[in-house]
Amino acid sequence: MDNSRIGEAALVRLLEGWCTDSRESLHRQLAAALTALISSGELPPGTVLPSERSLATALAVSRGTLVTAYTTLRSLGLVDSRQGSGTRVRGVPQPGVAVPSARLVSFTAKVGQQQVDLSSGALPGQDWVADVVGSVGPDELRSWVRGHGYHPAGLPPLREALARQCTADGLPTQPEQVLVTSGSQQALQLVAGALIAPGDEVLVEDPTYRGALEAFRDRGARLRTIPLREDGLDAEVLVRLLRSRRPRLLYLLPAVHNPVGVTLRPAAAKAVAEAVADTGTTLLEDLSTVDTLFSGPPPTPMASLVPEAPVLTIGSLSKLFWGGIRIGWVRSTAQAVRQLVSHRSSADLGSSVPSQLAALRLLDYVPRARRVRARELRTGYLWITELLAAHLPDWSWVVPDGGASLWVRLPGGNAVALAESARRGGVLITPGPAFSAIDGQTDRVRLSYAVGPDTVRAGVERLAVVWRRRRLRT
Ligand SMILES: Cc1ncc(COP(=O)(O)O)c(C=O)c1O
Repeated sequence: MDNSRIGEAALVRLLEGWCTDSRESLHRQLAAALTALISSGELPPGTVLPSERSLATALAVSRGTLVTAYTTLRSLGLVDSRQGSGTRVRGVPQPGVAVPSARLVSFTAKVGQQQVDLSSGALPGQDWVADVVGSVGPDELRSWVRGHGYHPAGLPPLREALARQCTADGLPTQPEQVLVTSGSQQALQLVAGALIAPGDEVLVEDPTYRGALEAFRDRGARLRTIPLREDGLDAEVLVRLLRSRRPRLLYLLPAVHNPVGVTLRPAAAKAVAEAVADTGTTLLEDLSTVDTLFSGPPPTPMASLVPEAPVLTIGSLSKLFWGGIRIGWVRSTAQAVRQLVSHRSSADLGSSVPSQLAALRLLDYVPRARRVRARELRTGYLWITELLAAHLPDWSWVVPDGGASLWVRLPGGNAVALAESARRGGVLITPGPAFSAIDGQTDRVRLSYAVGPDTVRAGVERLAVVWRRRRLRT
């Protein structure tokens, strides 16, 4: 994809909350929001904006609104438009400045009081997690405080406990094979930084976890996609791609895929693992979401199917306990871990010691926490599907094995435009292209069901109103 071009889906994400004032005309509000993005550098010089038609559709406004807003930007000298090359932000492009993806808007944007938020898949922690975290007392901390506090590979007892947990989950692991990170997002970024050089090919599923796309793009990777079918990954197609393309890295979400929610079936996992071993491809398996399974034990990690192959497995405490604990890990060979540690040092000297001590305590509660999560998420899933069947009977979805959100297929229509109309109708949802390296998944939306039954009900009811209104208009 051309890095200087921003797609309509990404621009709509950046424009989050652009029309808030019902007394002001839409074109003025849009011109003001685009002006702010250009002035702040979020839309860097040289960025090619989407065509008027495609952005109007995605924003669910008339083409006239877009024409007027772009004309305003031109008159302010912020963009110029040339026949055939589109509308471009004026100024000299700076090398290495990429257009941002606005992934974290759901954490930073203000959700209006009247708005219902079904857009974030992040799970709140439960009250007992606060008790366990708070039970790390001064006596325990004191012995660590007397030391220097820098543990770039992780606190030794936590590495040991994580190694035991990996082993219990079917992946025999020694402590020196574990690197503790500040969340698995940092794990992704470290792996990307250590392994990917600009121009390297990275194979990802379509759709996939957005944070991984960002980490790979930041390294200048060329992203190639393999479609994720509704019944999971097509192992045969993947195996063929691995043999023909020999990518630098294969990134997979084999256990409770984010956003789709499916888990790779054992036979497919075996076929893919064997192809990885055969072709010598480095596999990055992201197991951050495995603890959101609705039932049963976690599937066998792919790393244990091919112990000799170059596999990095990443995990996280965010889904099981709380994202705010900011503890994740990479499990690989001891040598790979050393390499990642040396890579880490330019950005970070190790994760927070108090957080690691809390994580150590939390690990005693894994079986109980998994049972609680499974029950709560399964209930949420059954509830949202009941509501959808009643209010939006022509919508369908992939039956997930776990997760905190539903991957919904719309019966036609444009998911980005629907999400925009939904925002104005008082409900926030995430459109499919946010999860696609190629801005695909245009007829999909992700709906979170981890936000409590009343919020989910209000969200679905509002979506039904928005959907009916859009249907009447088309
Ligand atoms: C698949 C996947 N990987 C990694 C992460 C990052 O999680 P954290 O950095 O909180 O551990 C997430 C968070 O949503 C995720 O869904």
